[in-house]
Amino acid sequence: MTLKEFKEHFFKRLSPLYPAQELESFFRILMETYLGLSSIDVHLNPDKKIKLKKLDHLLAALERLVHFEPLQYILGQTEFYGLHFTLNPNVLIPRPETEELVEWILKDTDAGAHFNILDIGTGSGCIAVSLAKYLPLASVAALDVSEDALTLSAHNAELNNAEVHFLQQNILETKALQKSYDIIVSNPPYVRNLEKTEIEVNVLDYEPHLALFVEDHDALIFYRKIAELAKGALSPKGRLYVEINQYLAEETQVLFKEFGFNEVELRNDFAGKPRMIKASL
Ligand SMILES: C[S@@+](CC[C@H](N)C(=O)[O-])C[C@H]1O[C@@H](n2cnc3c(N)ncnc32)[C@H](O)[C@@H]1O
Repeated sequence: MTLKEFKEHFFKRLSPLYPAQELESFFRILMETYLGLSSIDVHLNPDKKIKLKKLDHLLAALERLVHFEPLQYILGQTEFYGLHFTLNPNVLIPRPETEELVEWILKDTDAGAHFNILDIGTGSGCIAVSLAKYLPLASVAALDVSEDALTLSAHNAELNNAEVHFLQQNILETKALQKSYDIIVSNPPYVRNLEKTEIEVNVLDYEPHLALFVEDHDALIFYRKIAELAKGALSPKGRLYVEINQYLAEETQVLFKEFGFNEVELRNDFAGKPRMIKASL
């Protein structure tokens, strides 16, 4: 099959399922990843034959897209804050709003100073690894309840040459943190079951529910625990950063204030939705 023939087949098969712009982006990424070809290469060489083994990969990827599997899982990789991360379905796909949370921390933090940092619910390790990479003097620890997530996050730390100390720990069963931290950060599960109707098939069917969902009747369970633990473990000028559920921004702010956090700052993400909080005691 030639590049032109594959392109026609790809768009014919997927056009009923995805918006045109998204398909263009999928096609470009697949060409770059599997064939090492830019959009211009593809455009200038329509009759170039695709080698059989590569074609098998491309056709398999196309079939997975037909079933709405996220492209990041198909490729087994993604980018986060300019770094490469290996991905598998045991971990959440890192989101752009989480990059904004990392950006907030980096802007607030002197890269030339030493800090103790803890990332709660590290998943792919995207937050912990980025902080370790961009704050080279910091000591970064990260925890998750999922052993599979920790295997992957440790691999991602190695891949990026970043030093992170990983721990398997259930935060909800943790009575106190053993160390003091200057920065505690978390993007915990926060999607209520009642919000499932808003969630796209590719998220609902493929991403780990352990990473996403909380019970409707106790949606802030992780924030309550994080506030309690951070209160006992933040250093005097320490800061807590969390990603939040946009529909529960006010309640989450109030929760931190009730736990005695004096400064609680809410921020919107790039889409203008209230999605992150910084709190200090
Ligand atoms: C929303 S994901 C965030 C992953 C990653 N930090 C990110 O921003 O892409 C939440 C993470 O919390 C972990 N988690 C869920 N319940 C937990 C618990 N009780 N204790 C510790 N981690 C938990 C999940 O395994 C998942 O990796």
